[in-house]
Formats: sequence, C-alpha cells, structure tokens
Amino acid sequence: MYFSLRTKLFLPLAVLASVVSALCFTPLAGRHGMVASSEPIASEVGVEVLRDGGNAVDAAVAVGFALAVTHPVAGNIGGGGFMLIRLASGESVVVDYREAAPAAASRNMYVDSKGDLIAHASTVGVLSAGVPGTVAGLALAEEKYGKLGLARVIAPAVRLARDGFAVSYSLSQSLGQEGDRLSKFDASRRIFLREGRYYEPGETFRQPELAETLEAIAHQGAKGFYEGPVAQAIVATMQKYHGLITVQDLARYHPILRRPLVGHFRGYEILSVPPPSSGGVALIEMLNILEPLDLESPDSFESMHLMVEAMRHAYADRGAYLGDADFTPVPVARLTSPAYAAKLREEILHSKPDAPIAAGNPQAVESSQTTHYSVVDDDGNAVANTYTLNNGYGSGVTVEGAGFLLNDEMDDFAAKPGSPNLYGLVQGEANAIAPNKRPLSSMTPTVILQDGKLRLVLGSPGGGTIINTVLEVLLNNLVFKMDILQAVSFPRFHHQWMPDRLILERVGFSADTIQKLREAGYQVDLRGWMGDCEAIEIDPQSGWKFGASDPRAGGKAVGY
Ligand code: DON
Repeated sequence: MYFSLRTKLFLPLAVLASVVSALCFTPLAGRHGMVASSEPIASEVGVEVLRDGGNAVDAAVAVGFALAVTHPVAGNIGGGGFMLIRLASGESVVVDYREAAPAAASRNMYVDSKGDLIAHASTVGVLSAGVPGTVAGLALAEEKYGKLGLARVIAPAVRLARDGFAVSYSLSQSLGQEGDRLSKFDASRRIFLREGRYYEPGETFRQPELAETLEAIAHQGAKGFYEGPVAQAIVATMQKYHGLITVQDLARYHPILRRPLVGHFRGYEILSVPPPSSGGVALIEMLNILEPLDLESPDSFESMHLMVEAMRHAYADRGAYLGDADFTPVPVARLTSPAYAAKLREEILHSKPDAPIAAGNPQAVESSQTTHYSVVDDDGNAVANTYTLNNGYGSGVTVEGAGFLLNDEMDDFAAKPGSPNLYGLVQGEANAIAPNKRPLSSMTPTVILQDGKLRLVLGSPGGGTIINTVLEVLLNNLVFKMDILQAVSFPRFHHQWMPDRLILERVGFSADTIQKLREAGYQVDLRGWMGDCEAIEIDPQSGWKFGASDPRAGGKAVGY
C-alpha cells in the first residue's frame, strides 16, 4: 500500500524508471557515522568533524554554525532551538536554547488601543525578536558533551563565511522570495540582496562581518556574542529600529539543560523535548492514543481518520495547556499519561469524524522556516537538533556590523490569547507574553530506542505541522515497516484542531481516500508539501546507519 506514491511517480517510465526509483529510494548507508541536514555543505562539514575524531555533539555544533552561514533562511546564530543528545552511555539530555522575551516585553505589546493585533508587529522587525539562544546553547553542548572544543568546530563556518560558498539554486530562489521583507532593513538589503543585485546560482556568497562574529565566538565562547562588540551591535540595531533587547537581556540569557520527555509505544522508547516546546508532549499524547489501535495501512481512510482524531485532541490540548513551564503550570505528566489517552481514545471511537471537540480535561484522570538535522557517530552517540529564526529569515533584520539575522520568535507567543499566530495555531493564557518567558514551540527533535539501543533520530521544520510530520515518519518506519527514506518521502497530512481543516499533500493520496475523508465530514485542503524531515535509522544489531534527507527540500545525508 505504501508504494502507491512510488508507483504513481515511476510506473510510466517502465523498466529504466524502476532502476532510477530503486536508486532514489535507497537510504544512504554509513558504517561509522551519519549526518542528515537541510543543506549539503553543512552535512559535509558534520562528517568532516566526525572523521577528524569528533563525536556526534562536536559534529552537531559544527553543523549548527555552518548552517548559520550556508542556510540563512533558518540556520542561525540569532535564533534558538532545542538539541536532544542521547549518549552511547545511556545518558540523555535536552539543551533548551529557545529564545526568551526581553525584560521589557509585555502581554499586550502587539495589541493596539482597540484590542486588535497590530499587523506584522510580531513577525517583522526588531520588536518581533526574542533574545537569541543559539550561541549559548551550542557552546554549552560543546563544553559539556563535545571533545574537540568550540574553536575547532566553528572553524568550518568561519571559513565558509570568510571565503564564501557557491549559492545554490534554492538559496537564490529563497532570497528572491523574501526580497520584500529583507529590503526593509539596511544591513539585510546590503548583505542578502546586494542592494538589489540578487544572487544568482553559482555566484560566491561571502559574509565577512559574520566571519568576524563567528571568530569572536571561537575565541571567547558565548561571551564573544552576549558581551562586548557583538552584544553592542545587537543593542545598537535595537536602538536604530526601536527594539527592546538590552545589554542586560543578553547578559541574562542562559540555555537550560532539561530531562527529555520519555514515552513508550509498542515496545519502543520515545525521547523527545519538554516545554517550552509542545513537541514532546503532543507526540507522546498522540502515540499513547494510537498505541492499541489497528492502523493497518498508512494511507487508508480508516487509519488516517484515527491519526487525524489523535492530532485534533493533542493540538486542542496544546492550545489550552501548553506554555513555558517555568512560568505557568503545565500538566505534562497528565497529558502524557496512558490513562488520559485511553479516555480520549474512547471518545474518538464513539464519535463521528471531525465532531467538535474542546481541549480535554487531563485533571480528570489519575494519574518556511526552521531547520532540523540529525547526527550519529561511530560510538552510538546521537543528536537531534531543531533550531530556527521562526519565519524564513526571521524578523528580516540583520544586526548591523555583525552580519547575522535576528529571529521573530515572539510570534510564537499568544500575542492575543485565542487569536491565531503565523501558523494558524490558536493558543491560550499559558502561552501569553511575559518578561523573560520562552514562547511555546512545536519543535520536536526526537530519538527512539529499541531494547535500549538507538533506533531512530529525527525531526523537521514546518511550524505547527512539525509534530505531525514526526509522528507520521515515526509510524511509517516503526508500524508500516517502510525504510527510513520511504518513511520520510511518504505523503503527509496534518490537522491542528483549529482551523478545522485537514491538510493533505497534493501528490500521493488516492482520490478514493480523499473522497472518503470528505464524506466523513473533514474539510480537506490539498496543498503543496509540508516539512523537511532529516532522519537517521540505525540497525540495532549491526550498528549500520541509514540516512534520509527529505526529498521535499534540498538537503543531503552524508555518511562514512
Ligand atoms: O518553534 C516553533 O514551533 C516555530 N518557531 C517553528 C517555525 C518553523 O518551523 C518554520 N518552518 N517552516
């Protein structure tokens, strides 16, 4: 059943095509190490670090800095994210380097005197930026878990920024598409748009100011960013455009080491990220609901209906209960408990598809752009890292004299509880804006263990669709027995409770299934594509690694 996409795409090309399809659908195998990321040069950097004796964390930190140079739409040092590290020793940790609201942020900062949201205030310009977390997070990961040291792992990024790299077709396209927003800000217009002489594929893109910033970090660690000339440049840019981030905000910022959330699904152990991401909670809640159900095939009406109902419940709960747990109580244990899932499952089995639902009552039971990359090394250490500027090219603002873009992560807060954000996500009081609080994320870097051994490392961008992309790839591999590249390639669908729409990728689902979903009452919308899953599957017996970079985007898996 799950070959339907393959079959549709390649049957007309007969015998020759079957050879091609076999090649296209073979995950990359690596004996020793594997890196899958959204940008080929960055994946090569990761493998170069592994070959040089680095571990998965060294490689992950190197890839993070390299993407900030080669993949500026989402790779960053002016944003934030979550790194899930699972060491071969069995220890696992999440580095939460999510951005924080500046101290001067306030609940109604994006609302006018009539109580209406001010258009674009939380998505464009300096006011939309949270205090960046990436440099502090990557530096902490390197210091605690890396072997080679920050200077070595940043070196490839410094080289790429200083000497430049050939602009790819996709980078040239994406810079062109975001021209309007980037052209509003002097340094963005100069660096990314060359004052209107847009970069063509194959031209060399050099970023000398960014190279200097990266060198400051290489020499001084996180202090090279949060103090001194780079910090002053951030504050000067804030002052020029009337932003909120101060020297004190930068000095106060710190990444937080958190315990991963742990769930169980049909004998597998699921490690994922806790609040301030909603990813782990929603993923585990959905897996708990689905665990005993017969999911037969991945694109039949019957299984899609069950998965969509699990999605609707988890996203309704996300909107109602989730936020930064350091600021607001979040019922994580109850939302992820099998007993709560059992209650929701009963509701699903006894209701019509798409019946109106509100967030559940967990008290009643007892008990465009972001980017993800995955790394596994020869010893079996693994890193799943998702980080972002939020929107493509973030707020559009480049820090003057320091050469990097600032995020617009403030939009992930509920700027006005009950109103949708950039991704249409409706969120509540738990995610209201407060000084120093971290906005709720959907990022879902995830590691799956089988009998205590590494089995899958994955994650994706895609705003509100991230959690469902991870859910679907995981089920495709573990339940529907697709290899990791098939699992990543397979068509996707998404429901986030509100708006009440079931989104299906345009290519790959049968007319029959779409008709059944519509007849059942779902408002089905067909869209281009969603997500960019970068995944690694590990054969627990042999230790061989199989990398899959999502064919929807321009990434690459590299192994050795
Ligand atoms: O943290 C979040 O959930 C969002 N800022 C992620 C944004 C994103 O994935 C955009 N990518 N397509």
